[in-house]
Amino acid sequence: MSLHCNRNRILITLYTIHIYYICTRMSSLQQLIDKNKAEVEAYLISKAEELEQYRIEFLGTKGKIKDIMGAMKDVPKEMKREAGLMLNELKQKAEEKYEAYKEKFGDNSNKNNTPKTDNSLPGLPSGIGARHPLSLTMNKMINVFEKIGFTVAEGPEIEDDWHNFNALNLPENHPARDMQDTFYINSKAQHGADWMLRTHTSSVQVRVMEEGKLPIRQVFPGRVYRNETISARAHCFFHQVEGLYIDEGVSFADLKQTLYYFVQEMFGKDVKVRFRPSYFPFTEPSAEMDVSCFICDSKGCSVCKHTGWVEILGCGMVHPNVLDNCKIDSKKYTGFAWGMGVERMTMMLYGIKDIRLLSENDVRFLEQFK
Ligand code: DAH
Repeated sequence: MSLHCNRNRILITLYTIHIYYICTRMSSLQQLIDKNKAEVEAYLISKAEELEQYRIEFLGTKGKIKDIMGAMKDVPKEMKREAGLMLNELKQKAEEKYEAYKEKFGDNSNKNNTPKTDNSLPGLPSGIGARHPLSLTMNKMINVFEKIGFTVAEGPEIEDDWHNFNALNLPENHPARDMQDTFYINSKAQHGADWMLRTHTSSVQVRVMEEGKLPIRQVFPGRVYRNETISARAHCFFHQVEGLYIDEGVSFADLKQTLYYFVQEMFGKDVKVRFRPSYFPFTEPSAEMDVSCFICDSKGCSVCKHTGWVEILGCGMVHPNVLDNCKIDSKKYTGFAWGMGVERMTMMLYGIKDIRLLSENDVRFLEQFK
């Protein structure tokens, strides 16, 4: 009897110890879970990066909840169920908070918090620019000459006295130099003469002729400069397309036919032309060519100054002195040349009244040429 009694007492004592052990384990687990719950609730999230930090800290594979799960293996089996419920509650709370913020910030893979993108949507058209009206006109002019066998060459905008004047039969003190008020540059060229901004693309003629490859059938587009007062009709810089044709037996009839063809291609078959005798030191004979004013149908308007005609170019047979200056045998070769303003042509083609619009680069003006 006493033996039996002792055994029972021992069992009761052991059981009490076991229960005590379980209770302490449970209460420390409970404390741990409660502490984490409080942390989850208090965690401040104001941007996507913080949400990701939160995810790593609580829900990540090495996060706090995974840690507690690891400790579950030490929980006595009688209490596993209750401990599991407590832990689930914590996990659910942590996940709910995460999902709520994820929705707020969008996909959390988007770490920079930039708006979501749908890559299947067609792209927005990017604003491509338009060609400048001067380029449009210049290209059109060049294309016409290319069709009849002319090629294109360019020369420098800063020129020496020889190429801009002397070689073109305009020696120093020649009165015709005043025809083109020049911007000189304060530095001496090789032969002690001045550098300048070229006043016309005729300087490129000289450079090409000096190369000595004949025959020549080329056009020279480019910018030129003159010291002129800026107004609606004149500017201190503008553009020209120069042309040069040199071969054996080239005549004034070839000049007329070439330029007549150009005008018809440029302005249409109905346009009339007329040649007026003129003077340029580098050509002999020289002429200016007018076209019938297609803006007013030759009835008279401000563009044609009520004459019905608009002057579009200067031209002539290359002066023998110029050929000699460039070491071309003037007894064997003849040629013709011309120079025309691109601004004037552009203003006529597009009905532009003020030359300044062509260099101001106002996008509202330029956008109209798309
Ligand atoms: N260089 C002249 C000017 O700028 C234009 C010119 C006239 C060019 C007659 C030529 C020409 O080649 O033959 O006013």
